[in-house]
Amino acid sequence: MQQPLFITFEGGEGAGKSTQIALLADYLQKNGTGVVCTREPGGSVGAEEIRNLLVRGSNTRWDRLTELLLFSAARRDHLVKTIWPALNAGKTVLSDRFHDSTVAYQCFGYGFDETVYQQAQNLYHLIAGDFVPNLTFILDIDPRIGLKRSMKRQGNDEQRFENMDFTFHQNLRAGFLKLAAENPHRYVVINADQPVEKMHQDIVSALRDHLK
Ligand code: TMP
Repeated sequence: MQQPLFITFEGGEGAGKSTQIALLADYLQKNGTGVVCTREPGGSVGAEEIRNLLVRGSNTRWDRLTELLLFSAARRDHLVKTIWPALNAGKTVLSDRFHDSTVAYQCFGYGFDETVYQQAQNLYHLIAGDFVPNLTFILDIDPRIGLKRSMKRQGNDEQRFENMDFTFHQNLRAGFLKLAAENPHRYVVINADQPVEKMHQDIVSALRDHLK
């Protein structure tokens, strides 16, 4: 691969993002590309500390703006400490979630609200300027299936968002699909209700197309 890319993986709960990131990282490394795998919220020491505030505890713990501010603070630290240095060092960065999760969860999940959406976009611009991912895979799954998978994970006490009501999960899925429909150049929707290896093939083939 010629230039370092920033590739993000998005989707609802239990879509299999971490498995696909590991497979793609392996594929890229075998092809001689340096890769950094990271995640949100988190991906740097400070952002991992903020993660604990966001993914644990009651689902009514924060009001909408406070939640946006916490995700934005974590994202800024992640960009400054991990993502930008890795790209500057010529590495391709694979991130398990990024700003599109904020749009899907915080803006669409609770029911779309134009004011919250504008706040989210303004905050993103403040912390990241014009920087956007080169490519975003949306791993799309019916939340009935995805939630069952993610609730089964052993020792998962990070269930603040899993515990939101079912409508929240349907809304955020629709939000991701809307983002993809509006910008097919950056987003690729992957059917996440199929075998791991088939999903990986779909991802590799979409990446090849993107690089053409
Ligand atoms: P994970 O379970 O994929 O590690 O993500 C942690 C949770 O945080 C997940 O339930 C989605 C949620 N989240 C948001 O609500 N907004 C965001 O901007 C990000 C990055 C994650």
